[in-house]
Amino acid sequence: MSQVRIFDTTLRDGEQSPGASMNIEEKLLVARQLERLGVDIIEAGFPIASDGDFQAVKLISREIRGCEVAGLARANRGDIDRAWEALQYAANPRIHTFIATSPIHMKFKLQKNAEEVLAEAVEAVTYARTLTNNIEFSAEDATRSEIDFLCRIFTAVIEAGATTINIPDTVGYTIPEEYGAMIRTIISRVPNIDQAVISVHCHNDLGLGTANSLAAVENGARQVECTINGIGERAGNASLEELVMSFRTRHDQLEFETNIDTTQIYPASRLVSQVTGIRVQPNKAIVGANAFAHEAGIHQDGVLKEKSTYEIMTPESVGLPQNQLVMGKHSGRHAFREKIVGLGYELSDEQVEIAFQAFKALSDKKKTVYDEDIDALIADEIIRIPHYFKLLYINVNSGSVSVPNATIQLEINNETLQGAEFGDGPVDATFKAIKRLTKTGSKLLTYEVKSITGGTDALGEVTVRIEEDGLTVMGQGAHTDIIVATARAYINALNKLEYKKHNRPRVTV
Ligand code: KIV
Ligand code: ZN
Repeated sequence: MSQVRIFDTTLRDGEQSPGASMNIEEKLLVARQLERLGVDIIEAGFPIASDGDFQAVKLISREIRGCEVAGLARANRGDIDRAWEALQYAANPRIHTFIATSPIHMKFKLQKNAEEVLAEAVEAVTYARTLTNNIEFSAEDATRSEIDFLCRIFTAVIEAGATTINIPDTVGYTIPEEYGAMIRTIISRVPNIDQAVISVHCHNDLGLGTANSLAAVENGARQVECTINGIGERAGNASLEELVMSFRTRHDQLEFETNIDTTQIYPASRLVSQVTGIRVQPNKAIVGANAFAHEAGIHQDGVLKEKSTYEIMTPESVGLPQNQLVMGKHSGRHAFREKIVGLGYELSDEQVEIAFQAFKALSDKKKTVYDEDIDALIADEIIRIPHYFKLLYINVNSGSVSVPNATIQLEINNETLQGAEFGDGPVDATFKAIKRLTKTGSKLLTYEVKSITGGTDALGEVTVRIEEDGLTVMGQGAHTDIIVATARAYINALNKLEYKKHNRPRVTV
């Protein structure tokens, strides 16, 4: 039986998803959950990209002791030095350096020939090796690279000291059989391959990220790079939960082990969705809302008689909560702590106490405190996304005979501002009033309302996606009044946008 190492890149490639931005506190919360999940390596960011990324990699390096911590760097000294500056505090740091190797990338993006690329790769790995002996080298766009060149460059970087060689399917182009054959060829033609772990990093442009990664493992790869919920650049990366549960559920065919505690999968999925604002599609394998739901009568009948008729794994095995704790003013510290752990948060005792006091204050005002209320409370009290804009008050008039209008009061820079706008409907009026008061110019990309609870007193959750100057963010807000939820979601998005403007990456992959 063989061990496969799980390299989680939610905080690096995952954060490259359109709209996903996490602040430093959110990244630390995710890193703590990844540690509990049992991933072997956390890629914490791309330190040269922005000061925010640098600080996050440094903080995670200091705080996380149970996993290796990797930082990304292009194949040059400036990037590697910056990565090392952040990573040096880690218990087990890894420098992950990369350069593109495909003809198309070398010609158009790098404007370098193959010999120059090879020389830079070797120089980067040789230099990184003076800082640590844990070096990963990635040949970007490997699946569209020439196999002879790939074998040459991998031989040379292993010779220079790379301990992991990564073969990314950067544009999600390959198919399982082809990728498996590529891994076999590399194993047979790179003479020093036994001195390095073979890693794969698959994107999901054709929906094959997981299938390709599995094919690679069956052919000799022993590290898979993946993300929670499969988030990542464009169509995303291979999803951690799909890979791990494939190994576990089809162990008869895939005799591989991982260090993952699968019961931490669902809390991790929920937390990542919460902090990135990227919803999990309902039919998403393993963690989607419908993954364990049975709709058809025949299926329901079968499951009631014997679960294994239609369930190939149990909801408990992925940590799906079976008995939801209903939280209210009678709930004590113990139940509260259980609840936040189930939601994917790992807080210090002091943070639990702060959150618990805020929960008590809220439960005096509200009969039932929903999971979304607890998320909001943790966002306010613990994560502290800066409140550049704060909603103080909203009043909306609408109906079949009046012209819809919204009056809004906001606090901006310790000043109270009030304004009103008419609109095509109450939502439109609310957006216009907030836009005018905040003097922001973002464009609304999507607006979505979802009911979290049932009944006419349902708690509605609004998600908005906005874009300004090439930056995209999501915002969420929940309330029994969907117009108040709308205002909260829009302001939440505007605060994230301001935060992102202050921490705009200077470099992206
Ligand atoms: O997709 C890719 O090629 C990457 C590399 C930086 C590993 O993300
Ligand atoms: Zn990638």
